[in-house]
Amino acid sequence: MAYYRQVGEIPRKRHTQFRKPDGGLYAEELMGVEGFSADSALLYHRYLPTAIVNAETVKDERGGAAPNLPLKPRHFKTTDLTWASDDVDAVTGRRKLFGNPDVTIGFVVASAPSPLYRNAFGDELLYVQGGSGVIETIYGAIEVGDGDYVVIPTSCTYRVVPSSPMSLLVLEATGHIGPPKRYLSKAGQFLEHSPYCERDIRGPSEPLLVEGTDVDVLVRHRAGLTKFTYANHPFDVVGWDGHLYPWAFNIRDFEPITGRVHQPPPVHQTFEGPNFVVCSFCPRKVDYHPLAVPVPYNHANVDSDELMFYVGGNYEARKGSGIGIGSMSLHPSGCTHGPQPGAVEASLGLDYFDETAVMVDTFRPLELGEAAEACEDPAYAWTWARRGPA
Ligand SMILES: [Fe+2]
Repeated sequence: MAYYRQVGEIPRKRHTQFRKPDGGLYAEELMGVEGFSADSALLYHRYLPTAIVNAETVKDERGGAAPNLPLKPRHFKTTDLTWASDDVDAVTGRRKLFGNPDVTIGFVVASAPSPLYRNAFGDELLYVQGGSGVIETIYGAIEVGDGDYVVIPTSCTYRVVPSSPMSLLVLEATGHIGPPKRYLSKAGQFLEHSPYCERDIRGPSEPLLVEGTDVDVLVRHRAGLTKFTYANHPFDVVGWDGHLYPWAFNIRDFEPITGRVHQPPPVHQTFEGPNFVVCSFCPRKVDYHPLAVPVPYNHANVDSDELMFYVGGNYEARKGSGIGIGSMSLHPSGCTHGPQPGAVEASLGLDYFDETAVMVDTFRPLELGEAAEACEDPAYAWTWARRGPA
């Protein structure tokens, strides 16, 4: 992604000798995406980052996903999800809500430190719905809390250490996640019309150094999961620089774009990924035309499935639907959806919406994972007609 960053010690010229206090050489590692033809980072390790002493296949327990059949709008209550133990972590405790060939969407309430982990298949986007903690990575640590998005690049080794139970929405992409290209200049600077910019982004600010031997790292890859054992702890990077690193951005730093009449969903866009986008609906002044209808029009999202995660305030258009904080609505392509009955009339004359929601629009249909089936409110599809099937 983002802009150039330098942390810790690095030599003045890349690919030159860089020596430790004992005279030995640091081990240089180039982390480069898209076959080293896009963003990269150059890291300097105390130990060889290649030194593994064991590899074991790990069973992926998350299961598959079932088609959205019968096709209908759906409502899920993540607050109804439970876990078998209190010792849940943000990696192995993820429960699968939705998935398609481009992205897997999970949810977890984590209170225990996760294992060291990296996703070698694609970038991950974490959204912290509640709680706080530290994302420890080979690039350094980032403290995160309520409302933070965290973008973790492909193959970045990290772990999540909660300081209070963290409710996390987790997107595992099969490619890269970043700001929409239309927000960026040719050189990658955020443009004036972007709803956020470099000043809103937090990254690691100092090296995170941990000594240890025979350290396990769980790796997600195309074929599943493998546990590597490294000869030395992977958090051994004394310095790095580049444009590729984990970063956080808080949803409260998203500056909403408003207008005299209703603004379309792309004004809320925050990230783009492979065949999906992520949008932030934030508290904002609403449409100020004297005859404006502030809630959305009924809409057919022709080429996308629309997943909305309600994380704060009151979502005006959904009043009367049973949706509350922690709910997710799935409005798939093929159905028209819109405000609940009475919401249009109730919105007339309002000048402010106190609502916070994270939307994921996928360009291929989302299938339902076990967690979605475990927390569905089956009556939601009929709430516009106010009666169910005869
Ligand atoms: Fe919608």
